[in-house]
Amino acid sequence: MNFEIHRYYQVDSTNVVAASFAKTGAPEGVVICAETQNGGHGRRQRVWNSPLGGLWFSMVLRPRINPRFAAQITLLTGVVVAKTLRRLYQTDKIRIKWPNDILLDDSKVAGILAEMQLDETGEIDYIIVGIGVDVAPDQREFNGALKDDIASLNFIMGKNFTCEEILAAILKDFSQVYPLWQIQGANVILPDWRTMNATLGNKIDVQDDDKIIFSGLAESITEEGGLVVRDIHGHAESFDFGEISIRRAT
Ligand code: BTN
Repeated sequence: MNFEIHRYYQVDSTNVVAASFAKTGAPEGVVICAETQNGGHGRRQRVWNSPLGGLWFSMVLRPRINPRFAAQITLLTGVVVAKTLRRLYQTDKIRIKWPNDILLDDSKVAGILAEMQLDETGEIDYIIVGIGVDVAPDQREFNGALKDDIASLNFIMGKNFTCEEILAAILKDFSQVYPLWQIQGANVILPDWRTMNATLGNKIDVQDDDKIIFSGLAESITEEGGLVVRDIHGHAESFDFGEISIRRAT
């Protein structure tokens, strides 16, 4: 697949800009990349701080798949981002927390936000996949406030990658896995996801709007990308939404 990268100094959110491109017919592979966002957001409209020095971009995708499997795109992107960062930073400490957090040890260093639009026939019109990577965010730049809670991959790992290099590597890896996934499905990603995940085998709380709605052992991933959790009574439920928090195993 070919990418057509549109670069901006500042936008509200690259996901929003990419969606407006997609609505007016932009083809798959259009990428919106901004040096900083003033309305960057994560899941549940949470604020996503996007100072200079971080990598903030969104891709327009038009996968030819059953919408039922669309949630897998978050897992696929997580696998691609985690593998790319592992290779570049030469570490296997980068792991994926279901569904969309990329961790370095316990610090979140990247996040993924996929937003889907169906057409009038119920088929996928487009999916916007937004990726934020804390490459080397300027800790003092954001809205004039100190943001020393944002991790910096370069700083932690003692490397000096540019956002440009990370973007090119992620897009290259994505373009290899994405076409295969459309043909072969989840099997293309799940083995790598299982190897790199930080969720399965842990006791977790599933939260909805900050309320714990289910607790148990994270057991497996469904074909649709949902997380199967089994409670202490042996009852298993699958979740395709919600936040999870991982409890220390006892
Ligand atoms: C999350 O962890 O909840 C997802 C964070 C996704 C952030 C990226 S940065 C580029 C794109 N634009 C946004 O507004 N969000 C995504």
